[in-house]
Amino acid sequence: MTRLAGTDLTLAYDRRVVATGLGVRIPDGSFTVIIGPNACGKSTLLRALSGLLAPRAGAVVLDGAAISSYRAKEVARRLGLLPQTAVAPEGISVADLVARGRYPHQKLLRQWTPEDEQQVAAALDATGVTDLADRAVDELSGGQRQRVWMAMALAQQTDILLLDEPTTYLDIAHQMDVLDLCADLNDAGRTLVAVLHDLNQAARYATHLIAMKDGAIVAEGEPGAVVTAELVRSVYGLACEVIPDPQTGTPLVVPAGRTARRATPAGG
Ligand SMILES: Nc1ncnc2c1ncn2[C@@H]1O[C@H](COP(=O)(O)OP(=O)(O)OP(=O)(O)O)[C@@H](O)[C@H]1O
Ligand SMILES: [Mg+2]
Repeated sequence: MTRLAGTDLTLAYDRRVVATGLGVRIPDGSFTVIIGPNACGKSTLLRALSGLLAPRAGAVVLDGAAISSYRAKEVARRLGLLPQTAVAPEGISVADLVARGRYPHQKLLRQWTPEDEQQVAAALDATGVTDLADRAVDELSGGQRQRVWMAMALAQQTDILLLDEPTTYLDIAHQMDVLDLCADLNDAGRTLVAVLHDLNQAARYATHLIAMKDGAIVAEGEPGAVVTAELVRSVYGLACEVIPDPQTGTPLVVPAGRTARRATPAGG
């Protein structure tokens, strides 16, 4: 059984239909990465998989039941979502925002436990934002804020984590930190689904890669089989060479230069 899957999904906003007949299965224990051009429906799919967007047709099934049949808090104990753009309540501190990740675990009578405290501290530590705990979220830099949201998702301690562009706004070192953290979580048994734009990072970290175009899945599987020059051309309309990553041997996409630029003599 797959814990999280969608069958025959029609995903739409009002009159804009983003996807029809879309089927997706997230392999249990995988680090699944979704790639695809802007506006192809990656975030829409993630929202549907998290139960935030009700499909117009078809169903998302979580642990054997339609996700729509669960209470919100029950979904939040099984699955966490880091949205692409999240807005924090005005003036909220980092510690308080991350603490909100514990909400699904709180009981009516025992509101806050040492376990909650410990999970928040661990999440702040794992994302390197412990020093920011008392700062206001809306005063942070884009990259600091991104890591704080990641901490909130971590504090939720769910078996399944959906991350929509977790590396956006991060410098290259922090990008690697977040991806390594994801890999560690995956090694520890969590199922991760992340949207990434960097194909080389996707190929390095994914155990299962899904390529989307125009609301459809056009290829999926092992990164080595999915990331080819032909796929990059058909999905992004970009000519490139694919060579083995010197560090990992996974596909490394080298976009073709623009001939017009190359033909311009230096200084000319
Ligand atoms: N709230 C909304 N209301 C109406 N249309 C929307 C809404 N959100 C997204 N769309 C549209 O749905 C389509 C898919 O958007 P989506 O956000 O899923 O793309 P994406 O693949 O995540 O793109 P990106 O890489 O830019 O994040 C786009 O055409 C977008 O304009
Ligand atoms: Mg998106």
